[in-house]
Amino acid sequence: MLRDREAVGAFAAEMVAEAARSIGTGFVLGVATGSSPVPTYEHLARAVANGELDLSGARAFALDEYVGLPPGHPQSYAEVVRRTVTEPLRMRPERVLVPNGFADDLETAARDFERSLAGAGGLDVQVLGIGTDGHVGFNEPGVPLTERTHVGTLAESTRRDNARFFGSLDQVPHQCLTQGLGTIMGHRHVILVADGQAKARAVADMVEGDVSIDCPGSVLQGHPHVTVLLDPAAASRLT
Ligand code: GLP
Repeated sequence: MLRDREAVGAFAAEMVAEAARSIGTGFVLGVATGSSPVPTYEHLARAVANGELDLSGARAFALDEYVGLPPGHPQSYAEVVRRTVTEPLRMRPERVLVPNGFADDLETAARDFERSLAGAGGLDVQVLGIGTDGHVGFNEPGVPLTERTHVGTLAESTRRDNARFFGSLDQVPHQCLTQGLGTIMGHRHVILVADGQAKARAVADMVEGDVSIDCPGSVLQGHPHVTVLLDPAAASRLT
């Protein structure tokens, strides 16, 4: 547990930067969208701007994407990743891959994404958030714990949570293309960041509950290298 959301971001960024420096060119980063990792990316951007970190030789993969948002839609994760990761971290756009949720054939897009991940040799570090219902990526309660990248359906609670980014709830897509829990479990180091009271229940279920499809994040209990970074509110239901 850390002092606040800023401190969570600073700590996560330092872990990412250390891994990036020690691995050098060829470092592969997994990036989550949502508000939780924003301070992490801001701290990384500062390190890049100060010349303390160079990610121009690194690659990045996003966790998920909405289905049906046209290229350039400001709330598509392709655009969110461009604005919050690729540009501020001065990564090469051709080295940053987001699942193609606007593909005619989503099953093929899912397989292509998995192939690219494998081609990059897997992820060194995945920055991850968690939804209020315990989802990671867009893996909602009920999904198999071993699935690979697939087309998924957003829980209504997730659509409501994410409506703040869209004009209204009606505009939030119902479907997504997301890395599966099996995919995420293959990443070498997972850094999960969460802040705020709204995440306290999901965090407690993830860390201290049974491993269950009711809380997709709980699958991480079986991962060999996970770091969970929380502010006091998100940690408040841990015993
Ligand atoms: C979104 C994303 C997740 C994210 C989560 C939490 O729906 N698909 O990757 O971790 O929900 O979002 P936030 O950090 O904004 O609370």
